[in-house]
Amino acid sequence: MSSLAGKRILLIISGGIAAYKTLETIRRVRERGGAVRCILTKGGAQFVTPLSLAALSEDKVYGDLFSLTDESEMGHIRLSREADLAVVAPASADILAKMAQGRADDLATAALLATDKPVLVAPAMNSRMWEHAATQENMAVLKARGILSVGPNEGDMACGEFGFGRMAEPEEILGAIEAFFGRDAPLAGRHALVTSGPTFEAIDPVRFIGNRSSGRQGHAIALALARLGARTTLVSGPTGLSDPAGVETHRVESAQEMLAACEAALPCDVAVCAAAVSDWRAKEPHSRKMKKNGKTPPELVLTANPDILACLSATGNTRPRLVVGFAAETEKVVEHAQAKLAKKGCDWILANDVSQGSGTFGGAQNTIHLIDAHGVDSWPRMSKDDVAAKLGARIAKALAPAPAVKSENLKS
Ligand code: C5P
Repeated sequence: MSSLAGKRILLIISGGIAAYKTLETIRRVRERGGAVRCILTKGGAQFVTPLSLAALSEDKVYGDLFSLTDESEMGHIRLSREADLAVVAPASADILAKMAQGRADDLATAALLATDKPVLVAPAMNSRMWEHAATQENMAVLKARGILSVGPNEGDMACGEFGFGRMAEPEEILGAIEAFFGRDAPLAGRHALVTSGPTFEAIDPVRFIGNRSSGRQGHAIALALARLGARTTLVSGPTGLSDPAGVETHRVESAQEMLAACEAALPCDVAVCAAAVSDWRAKEPHSRKMKKNGKTPPELVLTANPDILACLSATGNTRPRLVVGFAAETEKVVEHAQAKLAKKGCDWILANDVSQGSGTFGGAQNTIHLIDAHGVDSWPRMSKDDVAAKLGARIAKALAPAPAVKSENLKS
C-alpha cells in the first residue's frame, strides 16, 4: 500500500450510475491518508446523495456555484486551487464536452476551468456515447492539454449493453491517483520500516516491564517517510497514538513480537529503529497472576531481549541499504552514541538527550545529533515532526539515485 498522506483531492462527481463506485474510491483514498473534498453536479446528485459523500469524505460537499454561503466560505477559485489533484469520476460525456469547450456554467466546470492543478478523468457512459466522434474528439483535446485519464473499461453496462464505457474500478482509479503522486516523490518505490513506542514484557497476565516512550518520534518518522512516497511499515509497541495515515501499522507488545514483525516486513530499503525496546524480559512469565503469598516478594529472573537494531544491521541478503538507530542518553550523548554506532552495526545513530528536565520523553521537542561514519551533525532543538521531516529528507538524499541494476540482470 503506497501512501497518499497529506494529499488533497478535489473529487468531482458528475451524472452517471457509476457514481456509486466513487463512494468506494473516497474510502480507499482516505484509508491511504489522502483528504477528499467533493463537488457534486446536479446530474451526480441524481445518483448519490451529498450526505453519503459528506460522511465518507468527512467534509462539506459543494454543489452550487451561486450559493452565497458556499462562495463566502470557499469560493470556486479557492476550491479549485486548494487541492493537489482534481479527479472527475464519473466523468460523463457532458462534462467532458464542457471541459473541452472551456464552459463554466456550474460549480464543477467553473472549478475545472479555474484550477491550476492537474486533472484526472474517469469517463463513464454508454458505449455508443463513448465511441461517438464528438466524445472521442473531446477526449483527444483534453489529452492534448495534458489531462490524465483512467478507463473506461469494456464490459456490461447498467443500460444492458456491452462495450467500452464502463467506469474504471475504484482500485484502478486509486492506482492512477497513486501513480500520479508517486511519480515525483523522492522515496517512490522504496519500502521503509520504522519501529516505535515502548515494548511491554509480561511478568504475568496483568504485570509487565515497560518504559515511558510515547512513540511520538517514531510515528512522526513513519508519517514523514510515507509523505515522501515510501511504502511504509510501522511496527509499534503499545502507545496512545492512532495509526499514522497511509502507513501500514502492526501493533505488537513485546520485543520478540516486534522483531518477528520487522523480519516479516523485510526486505526494505531503509529501517529506522525508534522504539524504546526493553533490554530484558522475564525469563519465565507466569501464566496466572502471581499471588502475594507471605511477606517475601518473588524474585524476578530476567533474560536479554533480542536487539532488533543489531539484527536488522547484520549483514546478509535482507540488510536494508540504510539502517538508522536512536541513542537515548543522559550523559556524554555524542560519545556514547558513537560507541553504539559501532556496536550495533547500523549506518546512522540519532542521539538525543533524555536526561531529567530535557522533556524529550513524552514531549513534543527533540534535540538530535546525527552520527555516521563521517562525523556528527548537531541539529537545533525542534519539534519531533520537524525532526521526522529533516530525517526523511536526509534518508531520501541517501537513497538517491535508484540502486544500480546488478550486471547479471542486465540484458545485452
Ligand atoms: O542499546 P540501546 O537501547 O541504547 O539502543 C538504542 C537503539 O537500539 C534504538 O534505535 C532502539 O530502537 C534499538 N534497540 C533495538 N532493540 C533492542 C534495544 C534497542 O532495536 N533490544
